Amino acid sequence: MGPDMGRRQTMTEPTGADASDRVGEAAGSHWFEAIADHLGPAYLRYSFTKGTVREVDEVVALLALEPGMRVLDVGCGPGRHAHELARRGIAVHGVDVSRTFIDLAHRGAPPGATFGVMDARAMTFDAEFDAAICLCQGAFGLMRANGDDERVLAGIARSLRPGGGLVLSAFNAYFAVKYHLEAEFDADSGVARETTTVRDADGAGAEFPMWTGCYTPRELRLLCAGAGMEVRSITSVEPGDYRGAPPTVESPEYLVVAFLTPSRREGAP
Ligand SMILES: C[S@@+](CC[C@H](N)C(=O)[O-])C[C@H]1O[C@@H](n2cnc3c(N)ncnc32)[C@H](O)[C@@H]1O
Repeated sequence: MGPDMGRRQTMTEPTGADASDRVGEAAGSHWFEAIADHLGPAYLRYSFTKGTVREVDEVVALLALEPGMRVLDVGCGPGRHAHELARRGIAVHGVDVSRTFIDLAHRGAPPGATFGVMDARAMTFDAEFDAAICLCQGAFGLMRANGDDERVLAGIARSLRPGGGLVLSAFNAYFAVKYHLEAEFDADSGVARETTTVRDADGAGAEFPMWTGCYTPRELRLLCAGAGMEVRSITSVEPGDYRGAPPTVESPEYLVVAFLTPSRREGAP
């Protein structure tokens, strides 16, 4: 998620990292759904969404995507990456927990782009995709409980055919501690908690609590290894510019490029 989301101020409640933190989250729901409902199409006004074509240029190169391939877009939001990939002849299925965002994604979707409401923590795809993307905290990194991101990554790994690739962005924990001072960083869970003002299409603001799971490159490598994925690169990036440089503490995001290890597919006997 971009730094211009209207983030401000800090919070007073702990950034809980266990199952009890699901209090206030009805079964089968996710805290981001209320934000998506309020935002609606205004999501695409935020500046961090403006570099979609350049981001897809890089994703296509990093995953060697070609027309006819099939990509899973995890936490696809209103489908900006999926639409752009489909325009290039690449079939994409986007999943998101927000019905509001999935409805937006359906609107004007090019042929080859399909969407469905789904919680990425409970995906059941089985070796159906040549590649996956999970960008801008799309499901990965919007967790409140330890284990959520691991579940998302395991589901992605299961969804890939052997050798299939993943491009995933994750918020930089070092950057969060150094610069993201309006948020409260919980060192135990690595989750930054803040209150953010979100503006709808009419400019009406509403405040929401927000949780961002933050990572170091070392943690990302370990998580990928746990899911049976081999990391090819981790680079420092920012929204709209995925060209990548060696990891530093100065970039808001890291971009992970990983491939499913053919012999170590997660969950395989
Ligand atoms: C910041 S948006 C990013 C959307 C899109 N990937 C993009 O780059 O514009 C994060 C998205 O992840 C979705 N999301 C968060 N947790 C999710 C989960 N567990 N399962 C599916 N989608 C989830 C949210 O609903 C939201 O659409």
